[in-house]
Amino acid sequence: MSQPWTRTLAGQFIVFDGPDGSGKSTQFRMLRELAEADGLEVCEVREPGGTEVGERIRAVLLDPEVEREHAMDVRCEMMLYMASRAQLVAEKVRPALGRGALVLADRFISSTLAYQGTAGGVSVADILRVGQVAIGECWPRLVVVFDVDQATAAKRLNPLLDRMEQKGVEYHARVRAGYLEQAREDPDRYLVVDARRDVDTVFTELCTGLQTKLTQ
Ligand code: TMP
Repeated sequence: MSQPWTRTLAGQFIVFDGPDGSGKSTQFRMLRELAEADGLEVCEVREPGGTEVGERIRAVLLDPEVEREHAMDVRCEMMLYMASRAQLVAEKVRPALGRGALVLADRFISSTLAYQGTAGGVSVADILRVGQVAIGECWPRLVVVFDVDQATAAKRLNPLLDRMEQKGVEYHARVRAGYLEQAREDPDRYLVVDARRDVDTVFTELCTGLQTKLTQ
């Protein structure tokens, strides 16, 4: 009997990423459920956070109140995201990959490259240098970018915006451009999915794209 295609996901490290309001979290849940139904062990993580230490860092990063008197410097912001990532890799990602589990991450260093890099102005070289310290050898096999325009994204967001979501239209346009630029520069490791459409159409395109990329 033929194996389900989801078997090719075993032992892989796959990141779901994209602008705020892209709908990636719904797709993330759908893929996890499909993989688990086919008998795979799935380690699901999210950033920033995903560990006890990381969730505390997340609270600082997303709280608009931390900027009541002074704006958070973008280098401080970048390193807090990386600190959360270092803990997540050590505590969850590395052990799961060691067991041969599928690791599904909701955001990873591709977010830092888009938000603090393209949108925030930190150089790619600086982000990768700090990233190497945080991540070690645990780089993702594939980054799926859920691409969405701002009008669609805005409709999907909770009206109570967090500190990052409050950064404004121009910042978020640069974030989107940053993801598309990463994908253009590294087509083997990135898959762009048009996330403007309905949930089921996006999921079908995601599964087709994953099968193609992982068997290339
Ligand atoms: P979330 O709401 O999808 O969990 O993500 C939290 C916010 O943090 C979101 O606006 C994206 C942003 N972010 C960065 O700016 N840099 C990063 O490295 C990560 C992981 C997230």
